[in-house]
Amino acid sequence: MGEGKVLIIDNQIEFSQKLTAFLKEQGYIPSVYQEIKKALDAFLKEEFDVVMVELGMPQMDGIEIIEEIKKVDPESITIAMITHPSLETVQKAIRAGAFDYITKPFSKEEISLVMKRAFAFRNLSVGRKKLMEELEKQNVKLEQQIKEKTKELALIYQVDRDISSTLNLEEILEIILDRLCVVLNVERCSVLLLDEGKGELYIRAARGLSEDIIIQTRLKVGEPISGWVLKHKEPVFVEDIEKDPRFARRNHERYYTHSFISVPLIVKEGAIGVINVNNKKTKQPLTNDDFRIVKGIANKAAIAVENVRLYSTLEDSYIRTVTALTSAIDAKDHYTKSHSEHVSQYAVAIGREMGLSEREIEEIRQACQLHDLGKIGVHDYILTKPDKLTPEEWEEIKQHSLKSAEILKPLIFLGEAIDLIKQHHERYDGKGYPYGLKGDQIKLGARIIAVADSFDAMTTDRPYRRARTKEEAIEEIKKCSGTQFDPKVVEAFLRIVDKLPPKPKK
Ligand SMILES: [Fe+2]
Ligand SMILES: [Fe+2]
Repeated sequence: MGEGKVLIIDNQIEFSQKLTAFLKEQGYIPSVYQEIKKALDAFLKEEFDVVMVELGMPQMDGIEIIEEIKKVDPESITIAMITHPSLETVQKAIRAGAFDYITKPFSKEEISLVMKRAFAFRNLSVGRKKLMEELEKQNVKLEQQIKEKTKELALIYQVDRDISSTLNLEEILEIILDRLCVVLNVERCSVLLLDEGKGELYIRAARGLSEDIIIQTRLKVGEPISGWVLKHKEPVFVEDIEKDPRFARRNHERYYTHSFISVPLIVKEGAIGVINVNNKKTKQPLTNDDFRIVKGIANKAAIAVENVRLYSTLEDSYIRTVTALTSAIDAKDHYTKSHSEHVSQYAVAIGREMGLSEREIEEIRQACQLHDLGKIGVHDYILTKPDKLTPEEWEEIKQHSLKSAEILKPLIFLGEAIDLIKQHHERYDGKGYPYGLKGDQIKLGARIIAVADSFDAMTTDRPYRRARTKEEAIEEIKKCSGTQFDPKVVEAFLRIVDKLPPKPKK
């Protein structure tokens, strides 16, 4: 634009010639059309800056021509040419979209002024249009970037959600490697963890690496490249290792290929490992977007791996606590020595027979280990009394399931197991304690423990009676199916009871 192209639509030849000559003098490029159809065709094909229209053409009303031109290009600048301008005609032309008008025959000053204004306006509106187009383009680009970014964030969020749902290191690393390989479409990726004792990195999990490399790879802290990344806690993105002065190929570990990304796993105490990503399957180099994604996932992975470590420390201390607590009960009541252990064995076997999940089995195991812990608060003389208990003494004994739960309340990782402990003396018919819950109101785990607990109690010598035989105990449990015990649990118990290891003779 800005070439100054003017389209003149006028059937008065003499006038047109004069106008054309003058416009040329002024540096514009005029084209004259006498036929309206041809003029409009030309307007469609070429880009004219200004259109000058004679309003009094015989073939078509000039106002309609102006409207036609505005329809084709709303940004166009149209000037009406009027022989005897009346206020009405001028208003009509302006309303139709004309920018201005000139009077015929023309004065050079008038034309010169009108054209200057028209071109100034045209330049402005074209400039504005270009700016708008540019802005539009920028917007599209920005939108694209936002979309990409949102996709990345959604991806990282999802990985985070998945790895936070487990405390199993294997599962966490599998999720991370799977996602990275799929999203980045890479051949190889691996997670190396720091062996603090040896000050070396080893490959903890990998995709696309041979068993040999996984077993043999050991990198000292500080060594290129993973060791370097770990030591400097700095992510590295190399498009082509041959051209990178930092890591010019000397030996290099066999799994570093042309293009790779290496990102440290950083937690509060320092770097605990490295994530490596190598080569796209498309043979293209990795990109900055890929780099950002790996960094995002590494942040989440570091937290998840650290949580596993913290949890296993917690688990260790829990196991130590449990051992101490159960031996405390054993020490208090010699008759129940190993009771928790046996109940646990039976209940776990019943749970497995009933097809419970590993998590539910684990809860049952934890609950069994600690179910009678509350007996710590019961007087020794009651626990070891050879005679029948008085109603008051019996009341005191009945407190133990709630007392156990009370003591264990701070150990949040016991979760559901605490409910099982509270309910282990509930009965299927609702006549148990402490709440008198009935049927399904009692958790399945607690219904299982009730059977296992009774079976072990019956087959153990008590201060007030001798142990029953295994067969007698089984009969008793059958008899109580549907009243004290859940019939489904009893059925499962009967299926497994003969597979249980015999109790050691005292
Ligand atoms: Fe109990
Ligand atoms: Fe018990």
